[in-house]
Amino acid sequence: MSTTLLEPSTRSALSNAAEAHAAETTATEPGTAESLLNIDAGEFARHFNRRPFLIGHRLCAHPLFDLERLLKLCQTLPPEHIEYNAGDLPVNQEQALTPRNGLSPEETLRRIRDCRSWLVMKWVEFDADYRALLHHCLDEVRPHSEPIVPGMRSPQAFIFVTSPHSVTPYHIDPEHNFLLQVRGSKQVRLFDGRDPSILTAEELERFYALRVRNLVLREENRDRYWEYHLQPGQGLHFPVTYPHWVQNGPEVSVSFSITFRTPDLDQRRMVHQFNYGLRKWGLRPAPYGRHAVRDRAKYHCVRVWNRLKAICGAR
Ligand SMILES: [Fe+2]
Repeated sequence: MSTTLLEPSTRSALSNAAEAHAAETTATEPGTAESLLNIDAGEFARHFNRRPFLIGHRLCAHPLFDLERLLKLCQTLPPEHIEYNAGDLPVNQEQALTPRNGLSPEETLRRIRDCRSWLVMKWVEFDADYRALLHHCLDEVRPHSEPIVPGMRSPQAFIFVTSPHSVTPYHIDPEHNFLLQVRGSKQVRLFDGRDPSILTAEELERFYALRVRNLVLREENRDRYWEYHLQPGQGLHFPVTYPHWVQNGPEVSVSFSITFRTPDLDQRRMVHQFNYGLRKWGLRPAPYGRHAVRDRAKYHCVRVWNRLKAICGAR
């Protein structure tokens, strides 16, 4: 892999292609049959789950993303669905030490232009309107994703509302994800999660075993990224556990993240958890993906162990 995954000229070409993708900003009511996403079937088939690529969407003027509607959502979501903190963060931020902003979630939303903060409303499908919108979008993704990763399930959506110039530190996520930019802009830097010199087996094992998403971007990897300048009307595919960090543009940013899981991700997660346990015992397990038969055996061990724990816990 070259030092920089995407040459500047390629970036410009991508940016132009993205403009062609970006759809008009017509509002569409949830539940209607009108198309919300603009997906290039060939590009999806070539790149999904392997490398990032752009799609278009028609959500920019959707009433579910008005500030007043987002405030209402914020007031009705359970507290554990809302995560927020100061937005002036370094790329490498230890997750447990992320500074607070001294405000309530509602105050953070109302003052988002000036309070230099980052806020995410998680699992917004809790609200029926957002659930309908999520399902409408994923219904358009499913015909493209099923031939590649069958069994779409666990649809979940997240809404990020962030102050100008705020930073989302370097981290990984466990789901198939499309980040739809609704308002403002974002500079996204994505790193190849298949490359063990960028993302090690040990980092993946800790992520799945301890659920700590922030990682350290090592100096030698700082320039090895794909870069996207996301604009309203554009969406970006994040392959599962591809490391990334994000910097907002000069405006308030609102993004809608539509995610789902597939059965293959369960096996991946459980094998990494199993390997984490082996490594704690001083062993050096074969990384996930090297031996299919061993991976299957580890997967079944963890399943049986989890079932036993559930049975014993229920008594
Ligand atoms: Fe992320």
